[in-house]
Amino acid sequence: MMMEQLEKIREEARRQIEEIDSLEKLNEIRVSILGKKGTLTGILKGMKDVPKEERPKVGQMVNEAREQIESTIAAAQKSIERKVLEERLKKEKIDVTLPARRFEPGHSHPNIVALRELERIFVGMGYEVMEGPEIEKDYYNFEALNIPDGHPAKDEQDTFYINGDILLRTQTSSTQIHAMESGRIPIRMIAPGRVYRSDAVDATHSPTFHQVEGLVVDKGITFADLKGTLAEFARQLFGEDTKVRFRPHHFPFTEPSAEMDVSCFKCGGKGCSFCKGEGWIEILGCGMVHPHVFEMSGIDPEEYTGFAFGVGLERIALLKYGIDDMRLLYENDIRFLKQF
Ligand code: DAH
Repeated sequence: MMMEQLEKIREEARRQIEEIDSLEKLNEIRVSILGKKGTLTGILKGMKDVPKEERPKVGQMVNEAREQIESTIAAAQKSIERKVLEERLKKEKIDVTLPARRFEPGHSHPNIVALRELERIFVGMGYEVMEGPEIEKDYYNFEALNIPDGHPAKDEQDTFYINGDILLRTQTSSTQIHAMESGRIPIRMIAPGRVYRSDAVDATHSPTFHQVEGLVVDKGITFADLKGTLAEFARQLFGEDTKVRFRPHHFPFTEPSAEMDVSCFKCGGKGCSFCKGEGWIEILGCGMVHPHVFEMSGIDPEEYTGFAFGVGLERIALLKYGIDDMRLLYENDIRFLKQF
């Protein structure tokens, strides 16, 4: 009776194990036979009903059956584990002949492309490239540029104030003062950099943008030098045939002041949609350094004269590359940037 039962359990175990292919199922079988409520465990529990003299024999049989089932399970476990591993290795096989994932290099920003061009032109004319702080004292951004408290220009260039005295610069013109205070004259410098204004974003405005400042200080510098220099700059930037014109303007830190237009490089000056029928495109502000600005920075205006100019870098980039919305410059979409 007991023998038959044991034989049945062994047979059943072998059959079940043959059918399965996962460790979870194998464990279920183990529990169903050898677990607390398992079939073999049930037989062991029934030992108390076996007559005393037969117990050693029956006990030995049960133990043998248990050992056999355990070793069958152990063997099955090994073979399942091997199979699982083989499958995983097959799945995770690396195909060394596949092309490698390419490292996509970035692309210079149109602002940077334009800036390098500007720097090339001015360095070629003997200018040095300087930089000034973006976090600036009111004095350098306004006061020393002849824009005292209460001056309307201060209102036009509203910005982000750190405190009453320190602000984010609204114009790179502040670098003019740093250059003049250094006392190294003659000066022939350009100063590119980021500037800030409390403007809302649209196609032509941004609260942060970039300017390039220019300053020349020496003995005997005249408006003719200003015109010659900036005309040469325009020709190198927009093409040999580019003409320039100067319109009188007002900036507090230059006297006289002007805005410079270039002949439209799309239509050559005849008037087109690009220049809005004007034939001319405004490009920068400029002028002769105001004597009062010289005095404030410790330079004698009787001995020295100079000219200054300020260019919007975005404006140059937009014009040169025919981009019609400034916001595109700040989105940094590589598909956009790659076109320039
Ligand atoms: N800072 C002026 C602006 O932001 C631009 C400018 C005009 C700079 C005339 C100059 C200059 O150096 O001489 O509008």
